[in-house]
Amino acid sequence: MEAESPVPSLLLLLLLLLLLCPVCVLGRCIFDEVQSSVRVVSLPITLSDLSDRPLNQAEVPPLSTKDSGSPLQTTQKTQDATSQHLQSHRFRRMEKNWIRDVVQPEPIRIKMWTLRESPTLSHWERERVEAAVSEAISTVSNLLSVRRVPDRLLLNRDINKYCRFIWRNSSSANYNRCGRANEKYRAESCLGVNIPEDHLRGYTVYPHPDLPNLKVLKPDGMGVPDSDFLLYMHTQSTEKCRADSSVLAYSAHCQTDTDGRPVAGVMVICRESLRADQFSHERLVQTVIHELFHMLGFSKELYRTWRDCSLSPQSVACTFRGHVTNTDETGQMRLYSPSVIKSLHTHLNSTHTELGAPLEKQDAGPGGVSSHWEARVLQGSIMMATLGDPSLFQIDPVTLSALQDTGWYSVNFSHAQSLLWGEGEGDSFGSLSTCNNSSSFFCTGSGLGCHYLHLHKGECQSDEYLEGCRIYKPLANSSECWKEENERKTEVENWSGEIYHSDSRCFLSSLIRQNHPSPSVSVEGRCYRHRCTGTNMYEIQVGGSDWHDCPAGKSIEVVGYCGAVFCPDKRLCHQYDVLPPASTHKPHVPAQISTKAPFSERNHTLSHQLLTSYTSLNSKPAPHFSTSTVKAGMIVAPVLGITTVLFLLAFLIRKCCSDSVRVHAFIETPHVMQLQPA
Ligand SMILES: *[C@@H]1O[C@H](CO)[C@@H](O)[C@H](O)[C@H]1NC(C)=O
Ligand SMILES: *[C@@H]1O[C@H](CO)[C@@H](O)[C@H](O)[C@H]1NC(C)=O
Ligand SMILES: *[C@@H]1O[C@H](CO)[C@@H](O)[C@H](O)[C@H]1NC(C)=O
Ligand SMILES: *[C@@H]1O[C@H](CO)[C@@H](O)[C@H](O)[C@H]1NC(C)=O
Ligand SMILES: *[C@@H]1O[C@H](CO)[C@@H](O)[C@H](O)[C@H]1NC(C)=O
Ligand SMILES: [Zn+2]
Repeated sequence: MEAESPVPSLLLLLLLLLLLCPVCVLGRCIFDEVQSSVRVVSLPITLSDLSDRPLNQAEVPPLSTKDSGSPLQTTQKTQDATSQHLQSHRFRRMEKNWIRDVVQPEPIRIKMWTLRESPTLSHWERERVEAAVSEAISTVSNLLSVRRVPDRLLLNRDINKYCRFIWRNSSSANYNRCGRANEKYRAESCLGVNIPEDHLRGYTVYPHPDLPNLKVLKPDGMGVPDSDFLLYMHTQSTEKCRADSSVLAYSAHCQTDTDGRPVAGVMVICRESLRADQFSHERLVQTVIHELFHMLGFSKELYRTWRDCSLSPQSVACTFRGHVTNTDETGQMRLYSPSVIKSLHTHLNSTHTELGAPLEKQDAGPGGVSSHWEARVLQGSIMMATLGDPSLFQIDPVTLSALQDTGWYSVNFSHAQSLLWGEGEGDSFGSLSTCNNSSSFFCTGSGLGCHYLHLHKGECQSDEYLEGCRIYKPLANSSECWKEENERKTEVENWSGEIYHSDSRCFLSSLIRQNHPSPSVSVEGRCYRHRCTGTNMYEIQVGGSDWHDCPAGKSIEVVGYCGAVFCPDKRLCHQYDVLPPASTHKPHVPAQISTKAPFSERNHTLSHQLLTSYTSLNSKPAPHFSTSTVKAGMIVAPVLGITTVLFLLAFLIRKCCSDSVRVHAFIETPHVMQLQPA
């Protein structure tokens, strides 16, 4: 008998890891790179106070803002006299206000169009794409309303493609019209996808500069009825997909209308992401929503055409916002538009009224502007540059404010999901100079703890987007406390009282069963059950124990265990839409707020609390096993760093079990002294 070859077992291991971990692979967004390579067909933005000659969409040659051949911005060079003229024409108009009859915004109608030339997908691949895209579209149309396109949506052709010669003499009657067709012209394409002829306006040639003779080379197509945005879907394993396996999908908008609003776009879904071992419906839905938000306006290519439309009873008056991005005094690029500023202000509880939302620097181009939020400040937003487990990313109010500030949409904020990250932390939250010592959202070192939503156990880590700041990121595998099957997977002897259950959450803990000889114990994130008793009030259950009140911002000890559990403040039973993915029901919240366990130590200073905890532990009476009560609720002011909590938990376990266990001391004591309660 031959020994088993190591190759199949390695493959098996790899497969096993993939199966264990369909969501731990981060999805990286390459939107900016893709969008900048697309030649967008944009109509000159018309304003309705035109006193001279009303511009008719059909007769205005579309303006190409990009040269498709080059990913770099070569606009200046390649633009001919015609488009330069249009450009200046456009900017002249930008200064003026314009008035338009009020058309009440209605939910945006996004039409998905699956291309026939797509490689034949299997039945289940098609189903997966369609289910995810339909769900994403329905989510987006619940959020965004537009002034709907009347009748049918017809897309434009790029005059620079179908035309070989344009009349450029501004005094000629056929100025800006096509003089001679380009015989090589075949189709309008965007991101490698051919737009169906039926969706396009026709085109006409005017052989003489001044005579009205014309030759219709192609009549207008039928157009697409009941549609405000055309989404061309293409599912394929493209070069971009193969180049980076973390890219699940990418997209670009292809056309804008006379308001500057994008009306068509292409989304490529990497076929690899549909494979059984990688696929997650929720994840694909979230990715598609993210890409849709880019295509609809959250794009650095569109910031400059965002408009300010104020609604008065009779009309909508719009002006261009002009520059919405700028660098602050620390060199951080920020997005400054009124709703974004307001919403960030509310979110961080900042007194800094002109606080713009920071943009990601890592994927920014030469100008420093990008189409994603800075990961340190808006972690957990759907518009971060990388997405992971879908339960950890929200359609947050700051992102929705940005879409509102495009001026093209009216946003229904009642569908916003809450962003817990940084809530109430002030305007310097997430800055490089403060992330290592002033917030419980960040960590130091590389210990184990809890992801800030407490659904996952985490490890303190950094990455290129965090630029040295560290946060607890979900462990690579079996980190979900709410997943019951993780109990089997971890297979650790249950000396720490962990329970994996749909209502379990992660808690920083140093609990060890009493008299349990354990070789090495440290403070880390552990899974215990929780149930809400009110806002920011909850009880927890540890293996073999009863439910215990867990006062937010304090640590508790549990009968039968050494050490303590820390009860996070404003993380649990705080925002009710922070739930594991499978939960469709909201946790039960009693109307009557529990007043069971008043803790009077709440206002004590940290040093005093350290002292009380020390003395209370020393003068502890012999353990009495009334399982219904917590031995002591104590310590810790509401505002403190994770480091302090770690120190305190380690301190407690050392006091109790120092004879039987060795405690990993990865906590540097000096930090505790730096952190004074506010
Ligand atoms: C533009 O057209 C006008 C009248 O058609 C003509 O007089 C003029 O010379 C032309 N200009 C140029 C630069 O060709
Ligand atoms: C926003 O959505 C909610 C819930 O679907 C709905 O009741 C409300 O009418 C919507 N508001 C607007 C202005 O459309
Ligand atoms: C916001 O900050 C002020 C002090 O700057 C504080 O009094 C208030 O309670 C905070 N609000 C919230 C919701 O955190
Ligand atoms: C945090 O650390 C920075 C230097 O890294 C220091 O300047 C600052 O005073 C510290 N803040 C607190 C609250 O300890
Ligand atoms: C997954 O967890 C197991 C046991 O906890 C561990 O041995 C393994 O290295 C982990 N895999 C990865 C990819 O981290
Ligand atoms: Zn993106």
